[in-house]
Amino acid sequence: MKRYFQNTFVFVRENPAILFSLALIVVIPLALYFYVSFTVQSFENAAINEIEAHDFTVSDTLLAMVERDFPAKDAAHPEALQKTIDRIVANDTRLKNIRVIVKDGRDYKTIAAQNRDQVGMSVDVTPSLNGESLIAYSWVNASEDVSSEIEIAGEKLRRVIKVFVGEDGEVYALAAADFSINRTLDMIAGGVYQSYLIMGVIMILSLFLIVQHARLFSYVGLSKDLQQKNTAKDNFIRMATHELRAPVTVLTGYTDLLKEDLAGTVDADQQKYIDRMVLSVKNLSDLMADILEVSHLEQGRTDFEPEIIAPDIVVKEIVDGLAAKAEQKGLKLSFDAKGFSHKIRVNPVCFKRIVTNLVENSIKYTPAGKVAVTVAAQTAKKRCAITIQDTGFGISAEGQAHLFEQFYRVKTQENAEIPGTGLGLWMSREMARKMGGDIMLESIEKMGSKFFIFFPLSNKN
Ligand SMILES: Nc1ncnc2c1ncn2[C@@H]1O[C@H](COP(=O)(O)OP(=O)(O)OP(=O)(O)O)[C@@H](O)[C@H]1O
Ligand SMILES: [Mg+2]
Repeated sequence: MKRYFQNTFVFVRENPAILFSLALIVVIPLALYFYVSFTVQSFENAAINEIEAHDFTVSDTLLAMVERDFPAKDAAHPEALQKTIDRIVANDTRLKNIRVIVKDGRDYKTIAAQNRDQVGMSVDVTPSLNGESLIAYSWVNASEDVSSEIEIAGEKLRRVIKVFVGEDGEVYALAAADFSINRTLDMIAGGVYQSYLIMGVIMILSLFLIVQHARLFSYVGLSKDLQQKNTAKDNFIRMATHELRAPVTVLTGYTDLLKEDLAGTVDADQQKYIDRMVLSVKNLSDLMADILEVSHLEQGRTDFEPEIIAPDIVVKEIVDGLAAKAEQKGLKLSFDAKGFSHKIRVNPVCFKRIVTNLVENSIKYTPAGKVAVTVAAQTAKKRCAITIQDTGFGISAEGQAHLFEQFYRVKTQENAEIPGTGLGLWMSREMARKMGGDIMLESIEKMGSKFFIFFPLSNKN
């Protein structure tokens, strides 16, 4: 447990930004909750104000009615009251159960009512009955008008009771009316429900976002880990290649010497063994150079400092340098850059490596025929195209799909004998892309291949 807290503490110390996520997890839902609560409260208050305003209107209506038709004790005009009630009901359909009540001995008696059946009947003011006890309450507490919420048969109503006091200070009549507030209450409930629902959804969404955000930190940790591992790998490769370089140089020197010294003195089989040895040592040395190069590229330590160069001149030098190799195989190696007079902006070392790799490949994978190298400008696309076309093995569609992967080599019978690491094309394309260029190819199996190296033309000439 202690360890767990220690680890968490270390993690937070290394990634202080996570505190920001944690703060968000608390702050966003809280802010949202307070905002919604405040809005809902204001909305409810507004709705209640609206209902209370209606209370006053109803109260005024009752006052006007009774003052005219029942101005004082013993001055009741029940028929006139009834007529007024009927007229009011015709105008305001929201009003229900309008009544004028007097006290008759111990009983409360209805003298005019919207529901005519109640006229002449006494009112049962037993507290258990909905709202009717308010009648008795109002009679006793004459100083205040009552408006209160009641419920009859599942319907929410507002009951307004107006008290009339005679000159003798005694209550002589009550007028009561109900109006339905079901719709208003439903509206409030709906609004509140919707607000909380939206709040819930936003909270879930923001929590989800924050969790995602927090998860990013584990990726940061992972990538840090990966970086450390990469550096370790890089260091190991550097150390291993450095340690191997000396013995491999010794091996190369002595195998070459052995080959020269023993030439003519050994039989065919022995000569074959020596040749294989020489070749293997060369492969080993090439592989080490390639691996070092790949590791540099992957670590972003390759120098891409650009210079303005004339690609036609550089490519010609490379082709000239490889002429002997082509001649050895009986291949015709040609170069053409007619009319080309542009410059490109690349790192010269990388550029040379790319072109050399591709021309060497063409020589390597072409048993007979020719290799043609051209440099031309595609002015419409503002780019320089270097093409290397051969009449070699060609590459199948499947091979083309994987050609630029690390260590990928096309597996055919012809290729099997040719040494190589399968890193050349990957490195070449990687370098070309880092300098704003690209490598593409067209190839037909058993017919030959055509590789294209593109680089943007430089504006400066
Ligand atoms: N011009 C070509 N014609 C036919 N096949 C080719 C050609 N160029 C490349 N290939 C195929 O693509 C594979 C990958 O080439 P790449 O240059 O990456 O590696 P490699 O030549 O095998 O080794 P190295 O790393 O020493 O260059 C080769 O093994 C070969 O099968
Ligand atoms: Mg190669």
